[in-house]
Amino acid sequence: MEGLRSWLGERFAERPWWMNVLMVFCAFMTFVYMPWDFFIKPVSADQEAWLGILLRGPAAKLTEPIHWAIYAAGTYGFWRMRPWMWPWAALYAATVTFGMFVWPIVYLGGFGGVVLGVVSAIPLGLVTRALWRSADWFDAKPPELRARYGEWALVTGASAGIGAAFARALAREGISVALVARREARLRELAAELVREHGVDTRVVAADLGAPGGVDAVVAAVSDLDIAMLVNNAGVGYAGKLAKQNPERLREMIELNCTAPVLLTRRLLAQTLAGKIAHDGWSVSLAEEVAARLLSRNAIALYRLDVTA
Ligand SMILES: NC(=O)c1ccc[n+]([C@@H]2O[C@H](COP(=O)([O-])OP(=O)(O)OC[C@H]3O[C@@H](n4cnc5c(N)ncnc54)[C@H](OP(=O)(O)O)[C@@H]3O)[C@@H](O)[C@H]2O)c1
Repeated sequence: MEGLRSWLGERFAERPWWMNVLMVFCAFMTFVYMPWDFFIKPVSADQEAWLGILLRGPAAKLTEPIHWAIYAAGTYGFWRMRPWMWPWAALYAATVTFGMFVWPIVYLGGFGGVVLGVVSAIPLGLVTRALWRSADWFDAKPPELRARYGEWALVTGASAGIGAAFARALAREGISVALVARREARLRELAAELVREHGVDTRVVAADLGAPGGVDAVVAAVSDLDIAMLVNNAGVGYAGKLAKQNPERLREMIELNCTAPVLLTRRLLAQTLAGKIAHDGWSVSLAEEVAARLLSRNAIALYRLDVTA
């Protein structure tokens, strides 16, 4: 049950809330209302509105499959966020808006008809506008990370675990990676793999980020690179009672987990602002966007430091 809830949560996180509402509405129409309307409702009671024109009886029944197909396409299109949904969904919503405006005027008439037409058209007009402005949500392909941010990423704690996974995932996207950790042999092994498997450039930086001078050493080692993404991943966590922890180890933990990421971010950001780097974005720390694109969503615990240059 928890698995299903988390899976659904992820699916519904792929679009804004109002688009989820439209998707659920389309699904309801596709799987519940239209089958009932087509198979069970008597022909004599059937009604279908097209551009505000009301069809009844056999004409309504005959055109119902077209409405059905539209709702089915809407359900699938929103669920998979297919690129053909733009501008199709906005144009279709525009025809419905027009129909809802015209229908009461034609069939009720008078002032009441006009008021009802306007009142019905306003929310649908807003939906049409929102769909028209949603082209980015239906992009066939998200912009390449490299095109968006730049050529190089720096991953701390790349000799193991999540950091190594980040480095591999970034390299898969064609991003060159500077690999930072203390165990140089492991970094060299990973660097060789990234070059061999993905043809990217790498730089190995063996440094202790918990020790004095660690951040300086890293910054100096990459000062000639356009670092566009920083994955502040190196860290440790100690379990147990605080009173029994070694104070020196706690100090090192704070240096590594807190001081180093902030200073590293600050120093690399300063390089960006100094004009060394010509790209339009700067992504810092285990950015959710990078994680969502590159890694299994449940695989990692994220913490995030947002920096706006
Ligand atoms: N795994 C989880 O469930 C989880 C949950 C919450 C948060 N996190 C955080 O996510 C990060 C990665 O976790 P993980 O499970 O992949 O950890 P991991 O397997 O223990 O890897 C930690 C990485 O950090 C590096 N590192 C440790 N101390 C360092 C130092 N003083 N200087 C430079 N590099 C150092 C290690 O390399 P060297 O030993 O070669 O230096 C290693 O590459 C950590 O910050 C962790 O606290 C993890």
